[in-house]
Amino acid sequence: MAVTLVRHDVKYAEAMHALSSMPQVRDALGLPAGKVEDTIHFIKRERIDEEEGKTVPRVILDEEGQVIGVTSLMFIDRHKKSCHIGSWLGYQFWGKGYNLEAKTAILDIAFFELGLSRVFAGARKVNIRSQKAQEKLPFVRLGVEKDYPEEHSWLEVKEKQPCVLNVFEREDYVRYRTSLEKVEGNREAFLPQLLLADESEVAVRKYLDKGTLYKINCGELLVGVALVIPQTNTTIELKNIAIVPKYQGKGIGKEILRQLTEECQKDGYQTVLVGTANSSIDNIAFYQKAGFRMEAIEKDFFSHYPEPIYENGIRALDMIFFSKQL
Ligand SMILES: CC(C)(COP(=O)(O)OP(=O)(O)OC[C@H]1O[C@@H](n2cnc3c(N)ncnc32)[C@H](O)[C@@H]1OP(=O)(O)O)[C@@H](O)C(=O)NCCC(=O)NCCS
Repeated sequence: MAVTLVRHDVKYAEAMHALSSMPQVRDALGLPAGKVEDTIHFIKRERIDEEEGKTVPRVILDEEGQVIGVTSLMFIDRHKKSCHIGSWLGYQFWGKGYNLEAKTAILDIAFFELGLSRVFAGARKVNIRSQKAQEKLPFVRLGVEKDYPEEHSWLEVKEKQPCVLNVFEREDYVRYRTSLEKVEGNREAFLPQLLLADESEVAVRKYLDKGTLYKINCGELLVGVALVIPQTNTTIELKNIAIVPKYQGKGIGKEILRQLTEECQKDGYQTVLVGTANSSIDNIAFYQKAGFRMEAIEKDFFSHYPEPIYENGIRALDMIFFSKQL
């Protein structure tokens, strides 16, 4: 089973109308009985709202390309980095696992394309099936009405009835969605990703085949690499870690550091070392936010690189080593 999300289009109007007119869906959503022209009007309005950056509405297609429902990010607030999610599936597609797939596909957009921090999922209290479906999602935080009272009262005003409020937090979602996978065999194919963290191919090739190389996956997608090399029986060095540019700054690096250090601890290591250039201001922040402390400075580490490296207007000369006790 694999769903695809596509942009709204009037060519889906007939199918959307047929599915949303079934009483099980219509009653759950509180929709009035309408004609296909109303659905066409709705689709056109949704497209305008998307162009204005207010919503990301998507039609859910199944593996055969037939319309099975709709899922949308609504009320996108770029300042608060949040939005609300609304979804429905045609009655004949209930209970088949499509909900998790469709949620995952739309939350990938919310967190990795829009860079949001949280997505609220409300449900009318009378809509038990919707609440049960949300409860099954492994990355949901349930009953957050007291944590977000303004969002909750806004929702109840909008729906004109009592509602429950749940939320998908980016941190939980990233944890659910990202994983480390050991690379067995040839590592040559990962050179482009490794070069994101270390500009010199000569330098990367010196350690390419040492230690353990991990792929960093987000769902099925390769979004980065990490390479660790044991230094002693108790110390291991994180020699290279890189997230592909589109996925940087979305919490993946932080989560992967957590998973990696957990893995190293399980393997019996007590200390993780990592080095970064004096010019890598963002990385210096990144490692410290992840609990690393400054350990040592290797002066002129980068002076011998074939090409001088500049970042933030600073020449990379010295390597700063950070360490974390496990
Ligand atoms: C370094 C790298 C692996 C981090 O992964 P990432 O997915 O971008 O990182 P995250 O989004 O998980 O976290 C970045 C953290 O650094 C913080 N940060 C980044 N730049 C910062 C700055 N200039 N000042 C303060 N904090 C900063 C972010 O705020 C965030 O912390 P927070 O979530 O607690 O706010 C990734 O950006 C990358 O691949 N860069 C290119 C290759 C590279 O430089 N590798 C490291 C070589 S040492």
